[in-house]
Amino acid sequence: MKFFLDTANLDQIREAQDLGIIDGVTTNPSLMAKEGIKGQANILKHYVDICNIVDGDVSAEVIATDYEGMIKEGEILAALHPQIVVKVPVIKDGIKAIKYLSSKGIRTNCTLIFTVGQALLASKAGATYVSPFVGRLDDISQDGMELIGQIVDMLNYYEMGTQVLAASIRSPLHIIKCIELGADVATCPLEPILALLKHPLTDSGLKKFLDDYHKLNG
Ligand code: G3P
Repeated sequence: MKFFLDTANLDQIREAQDLGIIDGVTTNPSLMAKEGIKGQANILKHYVDICNIVDGDVSAEVIATDYEGMIKEGEILAALHPQIVVKVPVIKDGIKAIKYLSSKGIRTNCTLIFTVGQALLASKAGATYVSPFVGRLDDISQDGMELIGQIVDMLNYYEMGTQVLAASIRSPLHIIKCIELGADVATCPLEPILALLKHPLTDSGLKKFLDDYHKLNG
C-alpha cells in the first residue's frame, strides 16, 4: 500500500521524504490555508515546491465548482508539473470535469467521497483516484472503514482502473485496516504513520541488546 502525506507543510513533507516512506502528497484548500498560503501565484508556487521535494503524485484541488471553471483550473494545475493530480469534488460538474480532464490525459483525484455510488460515478468518468473520507464518517458514527471495503470490492469486481485513496485517515489502526481491506493508498499526516513503528517489545528488546553489549564493552 502506498502512503501519501496529507499536508501542505513543506518541513513535514521533507521529513517524510527523507525517511523514504511516502509515495506522494495530498493537499486541500484547508491544508493550504493552515500553512498561510494565499494568492493564486503563491498557491501555484507552493504546489511546485511540494513536487520538487517528493517523488510521487501531488494532489492539487480546484476551487471552482462549475464545469468551465474546474477544467480551466485543472489545466493550469496540471501544467505546473508532471506529478500534479487534479483534485475535483464529487459533484455533478465535477464528474463532467473529470471526464474532460481524463480525456486530455490529465490525472484526477475525486474527493469528498462518502458513498460507494459516488465512487462508482467518479470511476466511470475516468478518475485516477477516488478519495473516501474515513475519519469524517467515523465522526458522525458511521463506519468509514466499511466504505473503504465496499469501494475496493466494487472497483475490483468490475475491474475498473481507479485507485482507492483512503483519506481522512487519522490513526495507525485506520492504516492497518486500509492494508487489510486492500486500499491502494492511505493519506494522512506523518504522526499516525510514525506510530506504526511503536511496539513495547521493540523498545525492551533494543534496551536488552544494548545493556548486554555494554556489560562487556563498557
Ligand atoms: O484528505 C482529506 C483529509 O485532509 C481530510 O482529513 O482529518 O480533515 O477529516 P480530516
